[in-house]
Formats: sequence, structure tokens, C-alpha cells
Amino acid sequence: MSVPSREWQLTARPVGEPKPTDFRLLRAEVADPGPGQILVRNTWLSVDPYMRGRMDDVPSYIPPFQLNEPMTGGAVGVVVAAGPGSPVPVGATVSHFEAWREYALLDGARVQVLDTSRVPAQAYLGVLGITGLTAYVGLTEIAPVKEGDVVFISGAAGAVGSVAGQIAKKLGAAKVIGSAGGPQKVKRLKDDYGFDAGIDYRAGELVAQLKREAPEGIDVYFDNVGGDHLDAALATMNTFGRIALCGAIAVYNETELPPGPSNLPLAIGKSLNLRGFTIGHHMKTAPEYIGKAAGWLADGSLHADETVVDGIEQALDAFFGVMSGANTGKMLVRLPES
Ligand SMILES: NC(=O)c1ccc[n+]([C@@H]2O[C@H](COP(=O)([O-])OP(=O)(O)OC[C@H]3O[C@@H](n4cnc5c(N)ncnc54)[C@H](OP(=O)(O)O)[C@@H]3O)[C@@H](O)[C@H]2O)c1
Repeated sequence: MSVPSREWQLTARPVGEPKPTDFRLLRAEVADPGPGQILVRNTWLSVDPYMRGRMDDVPSYIPPFQLNEPMTGGAVGVVVAAGPGSPVPVGATVSHFEAWREYALLDGARVQVLDTSRVPAQAYLGVLGITGLTAYVGLTEIAPVKEGDVVFISGAAGAVGSVAGQIAKKLGAAKVIGSAGGPQKVKRLKDDYGFDAGIDYRAGELVAQLKREAPEGIDVYFDNVGGDHLDAALATMNTFGRIALCGAIAVYNETELPPGPSNLPLAIGKSLNLRGFTIGHHMKTAPEYIGKAAGWLADGSLHADETVVDGIEQALDAFFGVMSGANTGKMLVRLPES
């Protein structure tokens, strides 16, 4: 017996912006679970900007996608069959890394069983998962926020940024400024996520807008974007400022990295600390963060949004969407429960 399962594959390495013809949705057959294995019906797929880097065949902190092989990524699902000796029972909800497909055959010892009694399963792909933890680590370990700081966050209406803005406030920031694309997202920064001020980077004049909102200068910059945003932050940082280099989505589709930031020497005179990080090196902080964040979600002091796209056939459009700003909060693909 086997079960039919559709899966996404990368068929050509994109040059610049990925095209639909670089991918295909195939029907595969997934075998019954053997000893210690489980068959999982995926119910939520995580859609993430870092997947763009995995489409290039270059050494990185995470291996590239293999051509004509199922793509991988974060997912949650329900165990629908278990082989003899499986440590996970049928019916359990689990998270794992075999996304971009409807069914996954997995080693039962290598999945995480999720407690969904207080939060929905997909929260473990967003606010209680990698994106929430990235926001927390960035502002506690990489560029620590101190009482009274002025904090600037780019990509502020996204999964990492919207949580980062709220955590900055919890850590005692006096003012939190976010940048996002378009007036509607900027409004939501203040209305939904408690930012003190928002900047619409698509309206131009980034440095002027930032200096207008932060006349006293910035103490901490959480960088999700790179490029012009990093330039603007460097121009506005205060002495002894801290910058967490989390992402650089502005350049992920570039075929040649643009030079810059042209004003990096400002970091010398201002005694700045710029530190890059990938969250994989900070997973030990996950229990501490999940404990706090679950409490904040329960008491209503942390607001997490999702942008949900339905159906495996829509997963590629969801990826194009996260790269172009179609999402507010975490971008997810929902698959049928049964
Ligand atoms: N270091 C790590 O371990 C780690 C872990 C997770 C994520 N990240 C990084 O963190 C960043 C945010 O990730 P996420 O998952 O939370 O994604 P996200 O912010 O939910 O989605 C990406 C957002 O980037 C914005 N964007 C796209 N192109 C842009 C450009 N040229 N200039 C400014 N903004 C642009 C879009 O919002 P607008 O509508 O506002 O343009 C889009 O919604 C990414 O750079 C990602 O690679 C790093």
C-alpha cells in the first residue's frame, strides 16, 4: 500500500527573480511506514524568504534544494499511520522539516510532538517557532535592548518584524519605529503591534523619514532588509548603537551583490556593534522563549498575525507573495485536515 501525495520540486536554479517554470508540482507515491516510522499528513507549510537562498547551488548555513527532488522546509501535520515500535502514536500533531508535500514519511524519533491544547498547531511555525524565536534572540542576545532605547525594525509587518516590535517594547524600549511597504501596513504597525511610529519605505526618502521619526537617534536596529535600510540606520544610529543583522531580503534576488553599505565607516566613529546571526545557533534559547511567548499569547499582550493561502497548488504563489510583501505576519499554506 502507498498513498498518493503531491510535492513541489525545484527543476531549474533561478537567475535573479524565480519564475514559475523553475518549479513543478508532481504526484508521488509515499510508502507505508516501516519500523519506527510514521506517515504524516501535512496540515500547515511554512513559507520563508530564506528558501530563495536554497534555490542557489552555493555553500551556506543550510544545504541548497536538490534539483528534481522534493523541496524541504518547516511543516506541521498529523500522524495518520505508525510503523511497529514508533515512538509517536497515530493522531499526534508533530512538527518536522519535510514540507512542500502533502504526506511525509518520517523517522518517528526525529519529529517534535506539539502541545496544541492552548495554541493552534501552526503557531509553532510562526510566533512560537523560528520566526518568533528569531525576533527574541535578535533583541536579547544579538543587539540587546536596554530600558529607554530607541529601536528601529525593518520588515516590521512581517513574521519576524511584527513580533520583534512587540518584544522591543516588553524589553523596555522607549520608542519603537518600524518600516513596511505601503500605508495600510504602516497603519497596522501602530494599531495592531504597538509600534510608536511607522515608515512607508515605498514612499521614498528613507533617511529623512527615519530622522523625522527618531530625532534623538536610534540605539538598536533589527535589520530584516539590508540595502537602503541598513544605510539609513547607519546614518541615524547613536554612539554605542547595536545592529542585529537578521536578513537582507532586499538583495535575495540580486544576481550580483550591490556594494555597500557605502556609509559603513560611520560604524567606527559611532562605536557601533553590528552582529549577524542565524537562528540555528541559538536553539538553546527556544524553551525560554516559548515559555514566555506562550504566556504573552495567553494574556493577550502578544499579537501574532498569519496570512493563510489554501492548497498545496498555491504554495509557490505563497512564496512569491512573501518575497513581494503579500503577507502581514507569518505566511502559511494550509492543507486539508482530512
Ligand atoms: N537570521 C535568521 O536566522 C533568520 C530567521 C528567520 C528569518 N530571517 C530573515 O528575516 C527576514 C524576515 O523574515 P520573515 O520570515 O519574517 O518574512 P516576512 O517579513 O514575513 O516577509 C518578508 C517581507 O519582506 C518585505 N520585503 C520584501 N522585499 C523588500 C524590500 N526590497 N525592501 C523592504 N522590505 C521588503 C515584504 O514586506 P513589505 O510589504 O513591508 O515590503 C515581505 O512581507 C528575512 O530577511 C529572513 O530571511 C532570518
